[in-house]
Amino acid sequence: MKEHIAQELDKTRIMEPYVEIAAAWSNWTDIACLDSGEMIGVIFGDTRAKDSRGAGRRLMASEIRACAKIVLGRYGKVKRLPTLLWNFMMTEMKLLINRPETDAEIMLLLVDSRQRGKGIGRTLVDRFVNNALEAGSKRMSVYADDLASNWHFYESYGFKRAGLFFDNWSTYYNGERSMGIRFILDLDRRQRT
Ligand SMILES: CC(C)(COP(=O)(O)OP(=O)(O)OC[C@H]1O[C@@H](n2cnc3c(N)ncnc32)[C@H](O)[C@@H]1OP(=O)(O)O)[C@@H](O)C(=O)NCCC(=O)NCCS
Repeated sequence: MKEHIAQELDKTRIMEPYVEIAAAWSNWTDIACLDSGEMIGVIFGDTRAKDSRGAGRRLMASEIRACAKIVLGRYGKVKRLPTLLWNFMMTEMKLLINRPETDAEIMLLLVDSRQRGKGIGRTLVDRFVNNALEAGSKRMSVYADDLASNWHFYESYGFKRAGLFFDNWSTYYNGERSMGIRFILDLDRRQRT
């Protein structure tokens, strides 16, 4: 499954570490499929508080594991390895350091490019929001970059901007200056759908 998701995100395999980190760090996975069984959308989410030291350490461990696999070539050959690792780690560090105090987080959300605009993304987020409300979560966060991510979707859903930082990874990956955006959704004010 991770290869399929990574391919949809990008034609190279370098998105695979992101998928692995998201999968390792989630307690909610929801998949949208066609009647044929073909997967057309996925969400990884987490409803555990992230501000504890143990949580930070576990997340860091999965990132170090991903870096080790990049170095070992498990995701295929990459050019300019030190630059890639530096930018990957810088963005991950900034995400860890600036982690807002939320008790739910969307780790990864993706809908097949041929199936977008049909409400699948909204349904996947609705279902995760319901799960978070049931788990007693109060605030949900998500990170997006301003070049490759569809951050408009989150604004249209009701998420508010909670932080902006220079995104090393997105800048490296997209070849132009890019910012990372932290979004927060106040779940207190939301009703179950
Ligand atoms: C983000 C993503 C999952 C949205 O999935 P989707 O199934 O196309 O979204 P929906 O059809 O459910 O749209 C839900 C709402 O968001 C709005 N929306 C979606 N894309 C939008 C865009 N680019 N600009 C403005 N609004 C947008 C829709 O108009 C819709 O609003 P409505 O319910 O008021 O009509 C999809 O675009 C995607 O996979 N993008 C690539 C990966 C990505 O960017 N992931 C998120 C960032 S990490």
